[in-house]
Amino acid sequence: MTSNEQQKQQTALIVGASRGLGCALAEEYLKRGWQVIATVRGSTHTPLHDLQASAGDRLEIERLDIDVPSDIKALRQRLEGRSIDVLFVNAGISIEPDKTAAEMDTEGFLRMMVTNALSPMRVIEALDTLVAPGGVIAAMSSGLGSVANNQDGGWEGYRASKAALNTLMRSYAARQPVPTRTLLLIAPGWVRTDMGGDAAPLDISDSIPRVVDVVTSQTGCSGLQYLNRLGETVPW
Ligand SMILES: NC(=O)c1ccc[n+]([C@@H]2O[C@H](COP(=O)([O-])OP(=O)(O)OC[C@H]3O[C@@H](n4cnc5c(N)ncnc54)[C@H](OP(=O)(O)O)[C@@H]3O)[C@@H](O)[C@H]2O)c1
Repeated sequence: MTSNEQQKQQTALIVGASRGLGCALAEEYLKRGWQVIATVRGSTHTPLHDLQASAGDRLEIERLDIDVPSDIKALRQRLEGRSIDVLFVNAGISIEPDKTAAEMDTEGFLRMMVTNALSPMRVIEALDTLVAPGGVIAAMSSGLGSVANNQDGGWEGYRASKAALNTLMRSYAARQPVPTRTLLLIAPGWVRTDMGGDAAPLDISDSIPRVVDVVTSQTGCSGLQYLNRLGETVPW
C-alpha cells in the first residue's frame, strides 16, 4: 500500500464483476488494499463471491443488471453519500461473433448495442456524481472498437457496439463543462475468458494488473483517452 492509500482508503466500483475480467479487476484492487464495491446481476454464487473469504468487509457485493434502468437508479440510491475514486464499467457481451452484419440476428445485434454501448453510458451518467474530483471513470472498450484499426473485419456486431461505446463516451466527455475527472476507454487485449475463448493469447494475469497500472498512472489527467493495457493510445 502506498503512503497515500494509508492516509485515505480508496474505493473502486467495478460494474459487471461476477467473473472474467471484472472479477479480476475487483481482485486486483483488493490486492492493492482498496475498498471494492463490485456488482453482479444474478442471485447465484459467482467467482466474485469466492473473494469475500479473504477480503472480508473490503469487498461489498451489489446487485445490478446494467440493462435495467430501475436497477441503476436503485444502486445510485444505495450508494448515496459514498465517494468513489475509480468507477470501472466492465460489463459486456458478445453474440454471434462469426456472423456478418447481414447474417446477424437483429435481436442479438440490438442486445449488444444496448449492453455494450447504451447501458454503460447510463451507468456512468447515473453514478458520475459519486466519483470524487480527481477520480477516474473508465469503461471497458476493446481494441475491436477501433474504426481506424479495422483492417480485417470479424466480430462485426461486437466491433460496432464497442465503436458506439467509444463514440458515446466522446460525446459525454465533450459535455463536461470543466473536466475534473479522468475518463478512460480501455482495450484490455485479447484475453482467455468465457468471452475471449481458449485461443486468446493472454491470460487474465497478463492483462488486468497492467490495466489497473494504466488507470493508476492516468489518475489526475483530464480529458478522455482510449488506451490499451500498456498505456498506449489506440487509434479511434
Ligand atoms: N476477453 C477479451 O478478450 C476481451 C477483449 C476486449 C474487451 N473485452 C471486454 O471486457 C469486458 C469483460 O469481458 P470478459 O472477457 O470478462 O467477458 P465474460 O467473461 O463473458 O464476462 C462478462 C461480464 O459482464 C457481465 N454482464 C454482462 N451483461 C451484463 C448486464 N446486463 N448487467 C451486468 N453485468 C453484465 C457478466 O455477468 P454475468 O456473469 O451475470 O453474465 C460478466 O460478469 C467486456 O466488456 C468485454 O467486451 C474482453
